[in-house]
Order: sequence, then structure tokens, then C-alpha cells
Amino acid sequence: MSTAYRIAPSILAADFARLGEEVRSVIAAGADWVHFDVMDNHYVPNLTFGPMVCQALKPHAKRPDGTPVPVDVHLMIQPVDALAAAFADAGADLISFHPEASGHVHRSVQAIKGKGCQAGLVFNPATPLDVLDWVIDDIDLILIMSVNPGFGGQSFIEGALRKIEAARRRIEACGRDIRLEVDGGIKTDNIRRVADAGADTFVAGSAIFGKPDYKAVIDAMRAELAR
Ligand code: DX5
Ligand code: ZN
Repeated sequence: MSTAYRIAPSILAADFARLGEEVRSVIAAGADWVHFDVMDNHYVPNLTFGPMVCQALKPHAKRPDGTPVPVDVHLMIQPVDALAAAFADAGADLISFHPEASGHVHRSVQAIKGKGCQAGLVFNPATPLDVLDWVIDDIDLILIMSVNPGFGGQSFIEGALRKIEAARRRIEACGRDIRLEVDGGIKTDNIRRVADAGADTFVAGSAIFGKPDYKAVIDAMRAELAR
């Protein structure tokens, strides 16, 4: 498996009054991706931000030397396709959606890829991985939820570890380079176990933005991953 770990801070936990600055700060602190949680008060009981905010933040998603940092859009919305296209136009690099939220999962994947973005599927704690039987050859990312989607700051659900292992087996069987991302309740003290289960990309919201020194948290996470 790939050991090129990625840390993807979720700006859901950032200071919304200073979002551009927060994106730049967390990138300076070592973020690999910027995770962008889109909630619609329909598929999930919370409401966040749309493509206009993504477009406004896109110029901030770069390193001080100008290297772009991927914008990782996690859509918790229903329906999927129209807003997925809008996020692609707004500068998203990766767009993931929940299969339950799309009437035609394969079509949604193709629509995202047709816009030049990488496509991911997101699995809730109670959602089986079965849909991967038919679409794993078409996607770039699998995102395993280790909390129920809708809110930051929840506790990691241990059952996610078995699902990460199962997803890793599927990725190995298919032989393609697919990222395996985990989202919810990731902290310095559990990231190693999550990596051992097979994850290579880690979303962390409150663990990073809830502390004054983002770099200290990201460095501590990387130290755990290097153990
Ligand atoms: C939850 C979101 C997560 C959230 C994670 O629906 O998808 O990305 O921001 O927050 P923490 O890391 O605080 O659990
Ligand atoms: Zn997320």
C-alpha cells in the first residue's frame, strides 16, 4: 500500500470569519489537502458553505511558493450532480459524494470526472461497501466516515477500522491507485491505528483548528504516522 500519507484539515472547524487566512495558516502548518465539508440541511442536518465560498478560497489554497494545494470537497448534499459541477467550476480538485444521495452513482462519478476532477465515494458508518463492486474501477478516492456526517467534534466510531480494512482489501484487489481517506474524530492519539487499518489520508477538523498551534498538531500526527 501507499505510505505517502496525507493530512487534510477540515475547515469546518476553522474560524469562519477569517477563512482565507485560516486556509493559508493551515497550509503553512503542513496541510497536504484542504478538506471542504459541504452540508445542505437536507442530506445532513446542518448547513455550511457552497461553491461561491470554495471559489473565494481557491486562491488561498497554495503554498507560499505558489504550489497549489488540492481542494478536497466532501459533498453531504442531495441531489449531487448540479452542485458537483458547480464545485468543479469553483476550483475543487477532488469531489466526493455519498452514494445514498445520488440516484445514479455511476453517472455522478462520470459527471465529476468529466469536469476534470478526481471522484470519490463516501461511506457512512452503517453503509456497506457493496456499491464498490461496480464502480471501483472508475473512482480515485474512497472516504470512510468514522462519525455520522453533519458535525465536527464527534467521537471516532471504532467500527470504522474494520471497514477501512475491507476497503483496503478491495483497493488491493483492484490494483489501481485509489486513496483511502478517513473522516471524523481523527486525533493524534488514534491516527496510527487508523493508518494501521489501511488508511492513507486523514481528515482532521477540531483536532487541528481547536488548538492554537496547527503545526504542532500536524507535526505530532506525522510523528505518529512515522512510528
Ligand atoms: C463531518 C465532516 C468532517 C468533520 C470532521 O460531517 O465530514 O470532515 O469536519 O471533524 P472532526 O475532525 O472534528 O471530527
Ligand atoms: Zn468531511
